[in-house]
Amino acid sequence: MIGANDKFSKIGFVLAMAGSAVGLGNAWKFPTMVGNNGGSAFIILYLALTFCVAFVAFLGEAAIGKLGESDLVHSLFKLAPKHKKQWSLAGFFMIGAVLIASFYMVVIGWILYYIIISFGSLPADTSAAGALFGGLISSDITSVVLCFSAVFFVVFYIVSRGIKNGIERLNIWMMPTLFVLLLLMLFYSFTFGEGFLKAAQFLFVPNFSKISGELVLQALGLAFFSLSMGVGAVPTYAASLPDGTNLIKSTLSIIFINIFIGLMMGLVVFTFIFAYGADTAQSGPGLIFVSLTTLFAKLGIVGNILAICFFVSLLFAGITSAISMIEPFAFYLINQFKFTRAKALVLIGIFTYILGIFSALSFYAPTADSFSLFGKSVFDALDYLTSNIMMPVGAIIFSFFVGFVLNKEALNILLGRFMGRAFFELWYFAIRYVVPVAICAIGIYQIVG
Ligand code: PHE
Repeated sequence: MIGANDKFSKIGFVLAMAGSAVGLGNAWKFPTMVGNNGGSAFIILYLALTFCVAFVAFLGEAAIGKLGESDLVHSLFKLAPKHKKQWSLAGFFMIGAVLIASFYMVVIGWILYYIIISFGSLPADTSAAGALFGGLISSDITSVVLCFSAVFFVVFYIVSRGIKNGIERLNIWMMPTLFVLLLLMLFYSFTFGEGFLKAAQFLFVPNFSKISGELVLQALGLAFFSLSMGVGAVPTYAASLPDGTNLIKSTLSIIFINIFIGLMMGLVVFTFIFAYGADTAQSGPGLIFVSLTTLFAKLGIVGNILAICFFVSLLFAGITSAISMIEPFAFYLINQFKFTRAKALVLIGIFTYILGIFSALSFYAPTADSFSLFGKSVFDALDYLTSNIMMPVGAIIFSFFVGFVLNKEALNILLGRFMGRAFFELWYFAIRYVVPVAICAIGIYQIVG
């Protein structure tokens, strides 16, 4: 179904998939959760779960895409030996990705705002920084909507150019630039000496007393969110893989890039935090938009430059993820209804834009009360629904499909030749039993615990 010219190159696929994985999850959720949970113990858990559960499931999702070579709904339809219609319905979990995109682009909008203000003077103390951020989201709705709209247009414009000319092209320069910016900041962090050492110790010296059931849950949730699983991004990109790609090698590269960038972000953020004695247990916006901005302000002009580098790298990480949330459903609409790319994107765009505005309004003081769902702001409700429900449930369904429905021989041909028979059998066992049991155990714990 995909024209020959709309496939990724091998490196394009790795960078685009890494671009999808590396996002606000790494920049924001990762350091926040590490900070709240005492550092290295959480990282060890996260790494273990990434390799034992998320990696296994990721390969499964990629296999669905590559073997189906179509959008998720049609791939499931094609690959299921019976009950084709029912299985194809599971493809609609990709709506989860569109829901994520709506509030995710609001956050990228805040980041854009912070890039702009980083050219001027930054707030000098925590209370001023807190007031600035609080003021932005609760009373400056014009700036929030303008920045969100700018991000929205960029993201949709890139997706409108298609896989090769839009998504691959963007990732191929944005991802290395992001990496270089982070490296520069990391080098600068070295100059902090003690602050850097404290950060490294915080991140790398294990403290197992912190590990608890709740922590396992959070670490797995983060591993899935961070690898863009359960909502169609992985199978959709994998559908445009060139033939003969070594999926194991590509997946490992993607996972390593994702972990590496997460750790680099963590080192940079915590070096600043430790060097200035700020609190490590700040939550999301607190850590990035409040603590860090105050610290940048202390460094004068260097601080401005660092702030710009930091927020630009966040902007890039966010944009490359957001495009991977829109592409799956766009691809489906194009295949199913023979829509042009533009028409599909206008439809998705209207929906996403309205929801994004609702999310923004759910923080805006005058409208906050009207934009709440189940006692949460629209923003938090959407985050909860997608991260805690749709992604794990989607991941379980796709793993079950790969483990029990999909033809084992086809999987062996796709994966076995790169991993050898013994590893293939181990992986097959893990996707059938380890992945669902891990996700269910955690789900049950969440409900009962
Ligand atoms: N992995 C992205 C991040 O860490 C989020 C994402 C979720 C991207 C779902 C695509 C699909 O920010």
